[in-house]
Amino acid sequence: MDKIHSLTGMLDHYDDGDIENISVKIFETEKRIKKVFTNYKYSEIRTPALEDTNLFVRSAGDASDIVNKEIYSFNDRNEKNIALRPEGTASAIRAIIEKKLDQTNHKLWYLGPMWRYERPQKGRYRQFYQAGVEILGYEEGAPEYEIISMVCSIIEEFKLKNCSIKINHLGDKESKKLFCDALIEYLEPFKDNLDEKDLTRLSKNPLRVLDSKNKETQSILENAPSIRDFIKPSALSLLENIQNEYKDICNVEIDFTLVRGLDYYSGFVFEAISSELGAQDSFLGGGRYDHLSAKLGGKSLPSIGMAIGVERFASLVKDITTSNKVVSFLTLTSNLESKPYKIAHQLRSMNSNIILDLQLSDGSLKSKLRKANKNNSEYAIIIGEEELRDGTAVIKFLNDELKDQETVSIKELFSFYTSL
Ligand code: HAM
Repeated sequence: MDKIHSLTGMLDHYDDGDIENISVKIFETEKRIKKVFTNYKYSEIRTPALEDTNLFVRSAGDASDIVNKEIYSFNDRNEKNIALRPEGTASAIRAIIEKKLDQTNHKLWYLGPMWRYERPQKGRYRQFYQAGVEILGYEEGAPEYEIISMVCSIIEEFKLKNCSIKINHLGDKESKKLFCDALIEYLEPFKDNLDEKDLTRLSKNPLRVLDSKNKETQSILENAPSIRDFIKPSALSLLENIQNEYKDICNVEIDFTLVRGLDYYSGFVFEAISSELGAQDSFLGGGRYDHLSAKLGGKSLPSIGMAIGVERFASLVKDITTSNKVVSFLTLTSNLESKPYKIAHQLRSMNSNIILDLQLSDGSLKSKLRKANKNNSEYAIIIGEEELRDGTAVIKFLNDELKDQETVSIKELFSFYTSL
């Protein structure tokens, strides 16, 4: 029979214990990012993968690429138009409004799959994972510092090199309008040189023209008005203060051309990029979106958030070895011999900081030791027929150049394991 394949741009991830494998890096990255979120005292929110398509049309905007050409939407059996979520922010706000929690403050995090019908390439998938946070109910100021601090903590936690955080301010409603008017006026004489996509952007959301990939548009934009001359002094000093406070920890750069691909942003925006990623160089993005809640039928709720692209982020992580020691437990007895499994059970209950890998497969000592080395085990505990008969075990020191192995009593094994 023909094999059935996964869909284009949708990857399987499997933990084969090899720390160089991107799937293993992804799983470990997710665990550690979650730890940062909880250490900052954020609460988890989990929303459905499927939503009413209107949620994304209304939030991301009908000029956005996400809604125009990337959304996975279809009619269900009841002819209702539904969509696989392309991002997490709109769903989080929808949920908070629906629970009537839109008049209070929240610090939320989420981690889950998102879907965008993009042309797959390195770092760009049709199903990908985002780990994100949303800070709801706070005006501009403290949350901006908190969110950049969190981005720096995450970059530090994984010791990422060659990356920078770009920040910009899109202004309040008034200054944004003045800037957009100036941009439209500047681009008017060049209309014939703009492609169809940029013309649509110009009419629906002029700021998005700044994000054009078209070389000709880019050169036209070189002399365009800068948002720097339109934002309020308070916005400019926010950018400068953030840059000054965090530049010794992370590489924070003010970039007045930075705009985001979703329409809901207003005020402070940012993106983290890495020179190691190639064309898709942004591994994290976010910003303030004070008007989204009201636009989705809720109360006015000033908010800011960000999302990390987990696959891109994990590909930057060089070393995922954790501080937890790994020990391999190898039996060389008949599979039906129950004693070793009881010993392994007792060991696990004695020291929960140790990751104990009980190898379930048959096989030679050599192949089991190869596996123990591959999963970074520091020790192998070996029990064969002889050890079983004598009430002993062998401890093999896999990372020690001076010691090879020792035969110990089970009691000694227990105290050795407890002391690790
Ligand atoms: P975004 O910039 O569209 O923002 O996506 C955030 C991150 O998701 C990107 O920086 C990138 O790393 C990753 N990403 C996006 N598309 C793909 C793809 N096709 N394949 C792999 N990774 C991808 C948002 O989604 C906003 N909701 C962020 C936010 C939260 N703003 C406020 N709160």
